[in-house]
Amino acid sequence: MQKTLITEGITTILVPVSDEQSKFPPGTAQVFYNARMQFNRDMAVLLVSSLKPRSYLDAMGATGIRGFRVAHEALSQPEVTINDYSSLACDLMHENNEKTGLSCHITHRDANALMSEQRFEMVDLDPFGTPSPFIDAAARSAHPYLCITATDTAPLCGAHLKAGIRRYDTMPMNTEYHPEVGLRILLGYVARVIVKYDRGVHPLLCYVRDHYIRLMLKLVNGADPADETIARLGYVHQCTSCQYVTEQYGRRMTELTCPYCKTKIRAIGPLWMGSICDTAVIDDMLSLLSSLPQLQTNALKRLLLLCKQEPEIAFHYDYHRLSKRCGRSAVALETYMTRLREQGYYAKKTHYTGTGVKTDAPLPVLYQAFDE
Ligand SMILES: C[S@@+](CC[C@H](N)C(=O)[O-])C[C@H]1O[C@@H](n2cnc3c(N)ncnc32)[C@H](O)[C@@H]1O
Ligand SMILES: [Zn+2]
Repeated sequence: MQKTLITEGITTILVPVSDEQSKFPPGTAQVFYNARMQFNRDMAVLLVSSLKPRSYLDAMGATGIRGFRVAHEALSQPEVTINDYSSLACDLMHENNEKTGLSCHITHRDANALMSEQRFEMVDLDPFGTPSPFIDAAARSAHPYLCITATDTAPLCGAHLKAGIRRYDTMPMNTEYHPEVGLRILLGYVARVIVKYDRGVHPLLCYVRDHYIRLMLKLVNGADPADETIARLGYVHQCTSCQYVTEQYGRRMTELTCPYCKTKIRAIGPLWMGSICDTAVIDDMLSLLSSLPQLQTNALKRLLLLCKQEPEIAFHYDYHRLSKRCGRSAVALETYMTRLREQGYYAKKTHYTGTGVKTDAPLPVLYQAFDE
């Protein structure tokens, strides 16, 4: 395997050389390394610095870059274990362990077997595609923090409907707010797996970016937190003829009819409702940014601030689509949102699209606001 040195943050390791001419260069190498996920790993370094877990498992290490960076760069310096079931990956991780002078534990196990046997204060899952087969074992291993990256956004967002139903035991739908649906379907699924262990889910920071979804969670022991978690599950009801959309909390889905066009409404879910971040954790992460100048500070700050201001609503309206639907020309987004606020509604941006508006204003108000 041909290798080359790369530096992310302040950590330098060997990664395999990939074929830059191919459509997806990381997919051509024998051990996986995707430079475009640097932001995701920066966020992991920042989160570990804030939460200070004493032990951290990078359950699917590949080159080990995530675990090595946490061991080298996080302000709290946890004991780091990096695992992969590929022998080639483990050979490379041993080489990188020596090269970096970091004493990470390298394990050559199936992630589910390892997580079923051993507890870690933070478990980080970063599989190819769906994390669904790993959630059960992770629920037993993660005490209390669980981080998950999912790259199978098409099944989660409803673009590959049957795969979404199989993997997440839910009913997704491809909507104009599909990143929101994908994130909340994944979080809802994780919550339904976790509660059977009499544990609840407290989201610390969950976001959608590029082609992945990232969940960072605290798992809280006890039947009460588990019951509170179940109360956070619900459905988003979307009319298939017009833009009417509404939320419903609770596990029992009700059949609704659109109040505007009388069409029978499609229910999306079960999925996670309400808050997807903890503002105290975000504030702490923001305060640590100046101590970690090697991270992509501006991009991290931008995302953290956007997540912090987002209202707890499980959908958004795309304001271009609103203007097209009512046949009025679009105004600047800020002006549009100010008009909604002046009428007593909230109107906020989403963290994942520049044209999304999260608001409690009803459709007639949303259409009228283009006119003034
Ligand atoms: C997307 S890569 C991980 C990338 C890495 N975390 C990073 O940040 O660059 C997924 C890795 O998971 C490993 N993997 C997949 N299934 C596994 C399993 N059941 N147990 C352990 N490792 C597994 C693969 O060998 C691969 O190296
Ligand atoms: Zn309708």
